[in-house]
Amino acid sequence: MNFKRTLITSALPYANGPLHIGHLAGAYLPSDLYTRFLRLRGEDVLHICGSDEHGVPITLAAEKEGVSPQVIVDRYHELNKNTFEDYGIEFDYYGRTSSATHHKTAQEFFLTLDQKGIFKKKSEQQLFDESANMFLPDRYVKGTCPHCSFDQAYGDQCESCGTSLSPSELIHPISAITGTTPILKETEHWFLPLGEFEPFLTSWMDTHKDWKAHVQGQIQSWITQGLGDRAVTRDLTWGVPVPLENADGKVLYVWFDAPIGYISATMEWAELQGDPSKWKTYWQDKQTRLVHFIGKDNIVFHCIIFPSMLHAHGEYVLADQVPANEFLNLEGRKLSTSKGWAIWLHELKNEIDIDLIRYYIACTLPENKDSDFSWSDFQTRVNNDLADVLGNFAFRTLSFIHRFENGVIPTPQNLSEEDIKTLKSITTQKEAVEQAMEGFRFKEAAGAAMELARIGNRYFSDSEPWKTRKSDPQLCANTLYVSAQVCAALTWLLAPFMPTKMSQLATQCNLGSSEHLSSDLLWTDCTEEIIKPGHELGEGAVLFPKIEDEWIQFQREKLQNSPSE
Ligand code: MF3
Ligand code: ZN
Repeated sequence: MNFKRTLITSALPYANGPLHIGHLAGAYLPSDLYTRFLRLRGEDVLHICGSDEHGVPITLAAEKEGVSPQVIVDRYHELNKNTFEDYGIEFDYYGRTSSATHHKTAQEFFLTLDQKGIFKKKSEQQLFDESANMFLPDRYVKGTCPHCSFDQAYGDQCESCGTSLSPSELIHPISAITGTTPILKETEHWFLPLGEFEPFLTSWMDTHKDWKAHVQGQIQSWITQGLGDRAVTRDLTWGVPVPLENADGKVLYVWFDAPIGYISATMEWAELQGDPSKWKTYWQDKQTRLVHFIGKDNIVFHCIIFPSMLHAHGEYVLADQVPANEFLNLEGRKLSTSKGWAIWLHELKNEIDIDLIRYYIACTLPENKDSDFSWSDFQTRVNNDLADVLGNFAFRTLSFIHRFENGVIPTPQNLSEEDIKTLKSITTQKEAVEQAMEGFRFKEAAGAAMELARIGNRYFSDSEPWKTRKSDPQLCANTLYVSAQVCAALTWLLAPFMPTKMSQLATQCNLGSSEHLSSDLLWTDCTEEIIKPGHELGEGAVLFPKIEDEWIQFQREKLQNSPSE
């Protein structure tokens, strides 16, 4: 399939709390790396995200604080949108599912499926809290897991064994609102009969054998277990109202409306572009490649339920890739916001340069298995890769040229085999980065980019320009010329990972535009001769100071002492 454009979506985070490092590692850093890479190649790419503002996670947070859900979503929509900006996560549009466009789009989607006769309408007994006078869907009820006996399982999922549940399966259910034992009460709902989509899902999966093994594995196991009917409505007041007569007090299930948020956010983006129908190019033209970046807990929704909805609707493209990540642990323990075991992005940004966090997380991404964020690892990565290798190489190269060549790139002559080999490694590493990026192997891409810095640094040391400067000035000139090319090439290869730092390095190399690689310089401009002889460098400065032990110690203590809820 020849695609003309890529539509990238990043899971809409719930606007019920701040973002932590797990969010960054699960979906948002990879999606940003991928977007930046495609943009560098000059491709047509659109990156969509926004706040997921419905569902029980929101209303529970509101009840806990004694405020309305609107207060909660307004607060965290703003905070999270700003946090993404602070971390250089570039979305073309950051929407929210409480918007009027979203409500309308989700309702129309539901109506289309209803009119096509896709849904089953069924009456069943569900848990009801008599003192609060409400039904208790999803996380409104806790109880003992029928599979593993964990006594704090939620109505939609057991976080101990990972099984997804329905509230009535819980043993000894307890209302999360009042703590009372609920009764069973009859209620009517709309169901998506997923079983009927099995043939479609199976043949669709057959055309995507290139997906990550753990993603395919999870999909397969859902299918093998048997896909049942899934209720797509709830008895709640907060959400998108079911757009039918006799559906008072019913809203769409959050996992029905939220992924439609990708579509409605694209509509709002198009509106802002002054070309309101442009969203259709991204959602309805078969030459769009749709890529969903998510964490592994979202796989069933993006690989089974949403594709079934889209397929049933009939007018939309389906995902071409879902490069889901596994989980990031923290200092060897599972991240837990309720236990206070997390690092909050909006706090961390005040304490450290975010490019260092981006780089470290890129090197630690849980791409195919869970991985671990540890402060001592962070220190090692920053001090070794960034300070000792990359920073040292760039600083030595540029300051040498400043001191002995008046900051002007010398003219090379009779390059040695070693010089030529080093220049060639620009191409080799560039291709390695490219291949890894195309295959969603961002850790490998970071490694391949850093390898060029390592090659440059070794080359500079081995060539000993401080000696050849006196013994054979042309040899020295050759070394400086080659080192400068490698240095400049690094600003391309590492730009997706550390956009701010690489713009600074580009300015030090005097590579033109102030916002390096923003518009005028593309991936193809990264060659084996980026800087011509006679080119004058900008000011040099240390890019990466080392991280002190005390600072790491401080972060560790802070984590140990963070309060649990
Ligand atoms: N809010 C969900 C979560 O944080 C993700 C929603 S993704 C969407 O797990 F597709 F539904 F938007
Ligand atoms: Zn369990």
